[in-house]
Amino acid sequence: MRFLLLLTFLLSVAFSADHGLFKDCSRVPFCTNFRHLQLNENDQFKAQISSLAQDNNVAKIALTDGKNRQLELQITFLQGRKLRLKVLEKNNPRYELQHVLEKDPQIISHNSQSQSEDAVTLVASNGDSSKVVIRKGPPMTVEFYNNDVLEVIFDASRLVLDNTEQSQALSFDVSFPGAKQLFGLHHHATKIALPNTADGSMDPFKLKNSDTAGYEVGSPMALYGSKPILCGQSTTKTACAFIHNAAQAWVDIDYSTQDKPSGHFMLEGGSLDIFVLLGPTTKEVVRQITDLTGKAHLPQLWALGYHQSRYSYATQSEVLEVISRMDQEDFPMDAIWLDIDYTDGKRYFTWNRNNFPDPVQMQKTIASTNRKLVSIQDPHIKVDDNYAVYTGAKDRYFIKNPNGTDFQGDCWPGRSSYIDFLSDAGRDYWASWYAYDKFVGSTETLAGTWNDMNEPSVFNAYEDENSLPHDVLENGNVKHRDVMNLYGFLQSKASHQGLMQRDEGKKRPFVLSRSHFVGSQRYAAIWSGDNRAEWPYLTTSYSECMLSNLLGHVFCGADIGGFDWNTPDNLMLRWYQAAVWLPFFRSHSNNNVNRREPYMFYDEMKVVARKAMKTRYRYIPVFYTLFYLHTKYGDPVVRPLFYDYPERIDDDQYILVGSDILATPVFQVDFSSVDVHFPGDNNVRWYRADQDWAVYYGGDTREISAPYDISPVFHKGGSIIPLKDDVKRSTTDMIDTSYTLYVNLDSNGHAEGLLYGDDFTSFEYSNNNKFYLLKFTYNDNNLKIEKIDGDLDYNGSFNNVVVHRASLSDPSEVVRTVHNSTIDGTSLKDLNFGLLFSNATSLTLNL
Ligand code: NOJ
Repeated sequence: MRFLLLLTFLLSVAFSADHGLFKDCSRVPFCTNFRHLQLNENDQFKAQISSLAQDNNVAKIALTDGKNRQLELQITFLQGRKLRLKVLEKNNPRYELQHVLEKDPQIISHNSQSQSEDAVTLVASNGDSSKVVIRKGPPMTVEFYNNDVLEVIFDASRLVLDNTEQSQALSFDVSFPGAKQLFGLHHHATKIALPNTADGSMDPFKLKNSDTAGYEVGSPMALYGSKPILCGQSTTKTACAFIHNAAQAWVDIDYSTQDKPSGHFMLEGGSLDIFVLLGPTTKEVVRQITDLTGKAHLPQLWALGYHQSRYSYATQSEVLEVISRMDQEDFPMDAIWLDIDYTDGKRYFTWNRNNFPDPVQMQKTIASTNRKLVSIQDPHIKVDDNYAVYTGAKDRYFIKNPNGTDFQGDCWPGRSSYIDFLSDAGRDYWASWYAYDKFVGSTETLAGTWNDMNEPSVFNAYEDENSLPHDVLENGNVKHRDVMNLYGFLQSKASHQGLMQRDEGKKRPFVLSRSHFVGSQRYAAIWSGDNRAEWPYLTTSYSECMLSNLLGHVFCGADIGGFDWNTPDNLMLRWYQAAVWLPFFRSHSNNNVNRREPYMFYDEMKVVARKAMKTRYRYIPVFYTLFYLHTKYGDPVVRPLFYDYPERIDDDQYILVGSDILATPVFQVDFSSVDVHFPGDNNVRWYRADQDWAVYYGGDTREISAPYDISPVFHKGGSIIPLKDDVKRSTTDMIDTSYTLYVNLDSNGHAEGLLYGDDFTSFEYSNNNKFYLLKFTYNDNNLKIEKIDGDLDYNGSFNNVVVHRASLSDPSEVVRTVHNSTIDGTSLKDLNFGLLFSNATSLTLNL
């Protein structure tokens, strides 16, 4: 036992992040300087209220400090309770971030409502409820109100913009009056509610996209992506500050002034440019984020199925064997993945012809099983004059040293150069390599691309935390320092462009990227990188993915089983069960761990994994409909409880899939039950959907049985949930199968739900309205089905309608009625709604 403990300890040290390599704040000069900075009045900026001027709906005010330094504050009102604040210097041009916003924000006009020597009040002139009060100071403050409720304060108590040869670092504070928790700053392996850091008990949260191998749960260390959005939330309001800057950032979280939690931002470069989002609910804040930074398009249906990956499937026969064994053992699956070893010496867009002698034939076989292939394409390009991707880019499309030569560093292939994705030409070049005739051996079955190591990772670059030096140049003269966190975003953008071009805009691209920034959702799905086979990594995968959903990036997941280490059996099962509810559902593992395709499990485990995977396939219509709602409104696919129940701020172990499905997986070893504290008030019903359809009520806490083969999930009273109970080997095989409608009645005997569908592949849904959105409504034994949007005829069928109703006489009893034979004299199985809809836009069935 002692030996085991020692071994575990040694292993965890060996697999912890290298704290020598990854710098903490005390080793980063601008962070050290700013963290404990106190400015006296003379160094704090004042607003010269009388200087207020209007310039094309931008309010401009001069700021000065006691040393007569001059800055300019700019405030713009934007459509939909959003505002923009900039602070500019006169003689110090700073890099202004490009690419991140989806389009130019829509500016609205404003008026000055009152003005004195000490303050000016600006109000939106279109009836929008936002208001801004700029107070003179020192320190100058800018207060942001929605309907006269103070939500956000920008304050200049520690406003600094370095302006020296060496440094353009900046610091400022944003606070959230009345907030109970702060959340945001994805990506960290922490709970959604951010802890206090300003007291020095931990480092500030670091945002610097890094290949943080062996990352630790609960740490503010930087991980692979950065979303510098900080939000304050309470039971009555949510507001956010989105820092539109992709330089390295550190943020101290301070709850010490309890009524005004704040973030102290310290950035290495770039501009001071903040979007203030006034909510006032979490739902509206998420919409405001995606209004600015865009929404994901729909994935092709297959991308929502199960993905089987490993570092690496080494030969083409191994790939085909995995698929056939999955089929033999009845595990549904949609895609198999190729990690770096399929290439010829880590030269992306090539094949190792010894191991993959006939990739086209391999893809034909994959296609014949209705599966897809995804292969990896990293951004480092092997320095090799016989490699066309390299020679085509040499001296043209690579990131440059300050002296103008191509930067070289080490990665998987050895000496490599890095594509300059900030330049349009660099992206075009990268995109061109996805063409079928350039990526020889690729076919349409190679349906997606995986962009890894794109923080980017540079081996043995100790001083630069194994990434690019700060002074290398992108797009001509942009210092890497100013765009440090944008590299993965831009690679995703280029890869997305490549797949769009390759498929002539006819297929929705699938890109998986390890590194990301705000707005990456427009181009790529993400996963949480190199987690490991330990329980806390399972738990944190929920926090990480629910948070990214709140910040606009919905398509996220984590390596099932944990990338590193061998997975204990019970953890493996719980992982499959929990991962069912994350949008991206992929098993992946390192090259030194045991094979772990589900058919490798022992029999009892197989049964449990199979059941979990089939659950995922049953719920795919729900995920697809939620993705559609995301494309339309920007709403998250999965949510933490506080999204719908603002008082539930610290409940990361629960997940809401949409608003109607609540999953409460087991996250602890040897637990065979979970204590579920049901959300909502006593009027809210939750029907247990994985088992007996027992009903539970909001506000109650119950011990819910969950032996190793069971993972609890509940349907909310008032919902109608269309599932595909007849699971087949892939989503493609299930396109024409029937739905079962689960009708879960609320306390008024009412329920409703949505079902979205289209061709599951193309952009016809967005280009030509070729989709259908059905609404189901149940009242008084009548089920109404109507098409409420889209120009496509619905052509599917339903074979069951199952109604659950808590009994009036005994509210703990559920009356379950299964309608599976005939309705109105017609067999449900024969009900082809496409035909029925051709005569009417709705029909009502009397059940
Ligand atoms: C690091 C990635 O995080 C991991 O998923 C991948 O297997 C390896 N790189 C090898 O490509």
